Amino acid sequence: MSHFGSYDERVKNFDWKISENELGYKEGDPINIGWYCTDRICEMGKADKPALIWEGPTGNEKRYTYNDLRLTSNTIGSFLRSLGIKNEDRVCLFMDKIPELYLGFLGILKIGAIAQPLFSAFGDESLFIRLENAQTKAIITQKKHAPKIRKIIDKMPWLEHIIIVDQDPAKPLQEREVSFNLDEAPKVETFDIFPTYAESPSVLHYTSGTTGQPKGVKHVHASLISQYLTAKWVLDLHDDDIYWCTADPGWVTGTSYGIIGAFSNGVTQCILDAGFSADNWYRFIEKHKVSVWYSAPTAIRSLMKAGDDVVKRYNLSSLRHLASVGEPLNSEAVIWSEKVFGKPFLDTYWQTETGCMVITNFPDMKIKPGSMGKGFPGIIATVVDPETYEPFEESGKMGLIAIKPGWPSMMRTYWNNEETYQKKFVNGWYIPGDRSSIDNEGYFWFVGRDDDVINTGGHLVSPFEVESALLEHEAVAESAVVAKPDFVNMEVVKAFVTLKPGFTASKELDLQIMNFVRKKLSPLAMPQEIEFVETLPKTRSGKIMRRILHAKEWGEEIGDTSTLEED
Ligand code: WT7
Repeated sequence: MSHFGSYDERVKNFDWKISENELGYKEGDPINIGWYCTDRICEMGKADKPALIWEGPTGNEKRYTYNDLRLTSNTIGSFLRSLGIKNEDRVCLFMDKIPELYLGFLGILKIGAIAQPLFSAFGDESLFIRLENAQTKAIITQKKHAPKIRKIIDKMPWLEHIIIVDQDPAKPLQEREVSFNLDEAPKVETFDIFPTYAESPSVLHYTSGTTGQPKGVKHVHASLISQYLTAKWVLDLHDDDIYWCTADPGWVTGTSYGIIGAFSNGVTQCILDAGFSADNWYRFIEKHKVSVWYSAPTAIRSLMKAGDDVVKRYNLSSLRHLASVGEPLNSEAVIWSEKVFGKPFLDTYWQTETGCMVITNFPDMKIKPGSMGKGFPGIIATVVDPETYEPFEESGKMGLIAIKPGWPSMMRTYWNNEETYQKKFVNGWYIPGDRSSIDNEGYFWFVGRDDDVINTGGHLVSPFEVESALLEHEAVAESAVVAKPDFVNMEVVKAFVTLKPGFTASKELDLQIMNFVRKKLSPLAMPQEIEFVETLPKTRSGKIMRRILHAKEWGEEIGDTSTLEED
């Protein structure tokens, strides 16, 4: 039996109090996600239950029970306190998917500080922009990532501590660096958890927009109320489940469902900190008897590409429930998963900003391959006319997704950017910036984003950020960055570049520029293709028209070019 039941019944009787009651939380009480994910589960009698089974790149393993989770997060919390870190200070997590990332996240929340997870493959520029915006006080990292921080440290007077979790004792520490080895640190048994409340800030996740700097999405401790229940109902987490969320906690799926949703439900979760290969993933599922699997369309398409034979080499009969997020899940992928795993991947739609799934398929619902499903109970989601921002009266029309604000895990603002935050609300609706239609049975069908942001393998990349990085290269005069179609990643980054006098296009320069962007930003933002051109299409006022380049890449009609510059 799933926890969900009938959609109509759930919608009719819905109240977020269902979640609050299960959590034993009453409005006005203190609420601390760190406590709910660790101490509370121990108090429920599950102290010795495995919470985290971690497998590293060489197959090495580390295991933590809920009691270990409680002790290690206390230990990290008290270490941070000893450095003078207080509630609401921003503490960045800049690590691979090692245990310290998960445990550190919980430790930061326990002292009421704000966890700022950043993807460990970020280059120094991506890192700097986000640390500067948040005025981050401390960063927890691994020695292999420390050089990227050292490179920009002089520009960051606000950053007081660089905490290295795997420092070689024989090597000297550099400016502001401090070593902290969790395995060796004496465990802290009793700990004063900071009394955070519903509206106390918890997590700051950065997301990319089309123009300007990345936006810091501020979440609060009340987000737990949404994350706990959506994880339980949509991912259908049961007490005996072995859960695997493939997302990296540098991004919101990895925190909302890779930490908070999972641990607050008291399940056992596995983490694989190794590169992707179909064999390795199936081996991991077989070995740990994974029953609930939350992944992403790009990974599923990569598995599809690896073929059906490799699936047959493993015993995957433990799999009970599969779900996906991050980008459009095409119907072929759903049908394929039904064929090879005997279960469809359930598509779930949400954003960094929404903090939890908002439109989704449910365990007991009829699945229409290619559809994102329906609004989560208690969340009023619709599609509005892009001109009037009024919901369409008939079904089938394409418009903008719109959601009635007010669920517990909705972002509270963009950090230092209230103006952009306010712009996300029109006519009483929160507008995520995606286009969709709704069919006559109320199912949402995703159409595309309403801006130029590139969604590559489920990761958002701002063309603006890539263009800015390109312009810093000595050979680049101008650039325009657009998405290019790709079977596995759906979209990849493509750059059109004009060169400065004295530079000529070559394969060597091409690679050099790609590498330049990879190092500055990240492998995700690195253009997969650079096309050197003589000129870029521009409006009469000189603005580069990405739209035209995009249409060409996708073989679409170019549309209105009346503002195009004449030669
Ligand atoms: C954007 C949000 C939420 C976790 C990961 C992404 C796209 C997300 C779907 C889906 C089609 C989707 C949207 C959305 N997106 N889920 N099921 N089908 N598109 O979080 O980085 O904030 O990106 O990802 O465009 O707005 P994010």
